[in-house]
Amino acid sequence: MVDPVVRSDEPGWIPVCDLGRLKAETIVRVAGRDMLVIWSEGDVVACDRACPHEQADLGLGQVTAGRLQCPRHAASFDLRDGAITAGWPSPPLRLYPVKVTGEQIWVEEPERRCGAMMASCPCFARRVKTIRVVDFAFGNNGVLLCMGLFSRF
Ligand code: FES
Repeated sequence: MVDPVVRSDEPGWIPVCDLGRLKAETIVRVAGRDMLVIWSEGDVVACDRACPHEQADLGLGQVTAGRLQCPRHAASFDLRDGAITAGWPSPPLRLYPVKVTGEQIWVEEPERRCGAMMASCPCFARRVKTIRVVDFAFGNNGVLLCMGLFSRF
C-alpha cells in the first residue's frame, strides 16, 4: 500500500511513516518520491531509491551491519556516508537529512536542500546565472557538483 504524500505545517519536510512501521519493515519507500527510509543499527537513514551504479531499485535491497546491499550486482553502501564498496565505478549513494518527532519520521525535500546548497555552488563565483538547478551531488573526491541549466549574467 502506498501512503499519500501529506505536507506538514513546517515547510520543506515530508512525513514518511511512523517509527514502528520502519522498525518492522526495515526499508520503506517515500510516497511520491524516489527515496527510501531505512532502519539501520538503531538509526533512521534516508537515501535515493535508485542505485547510483545502474539504477537498480534499492527498495528491494538488504540491510546488514550498517550497509545497504544492491539487489542487482551485490555492491553495498555504507549508510553513514553513502560510500560504495571499494572498487566499484560509481558515485556514492545520496543521503538526505532525516528527523524524528515523537513516532513520526520526516525527510527533507530535495528541492529545499538544493536551495540551501546554491550559495556554495562554484558557478556563483564564476558569475554564471542559475536558470534552474536540477540537483546537487558530491563527487567521489568530496567536491560539490551542481547539475543545472546556466547562463552568463
Ligand atoms: S545496479 Fe546497484 S550495484 Fe549495480
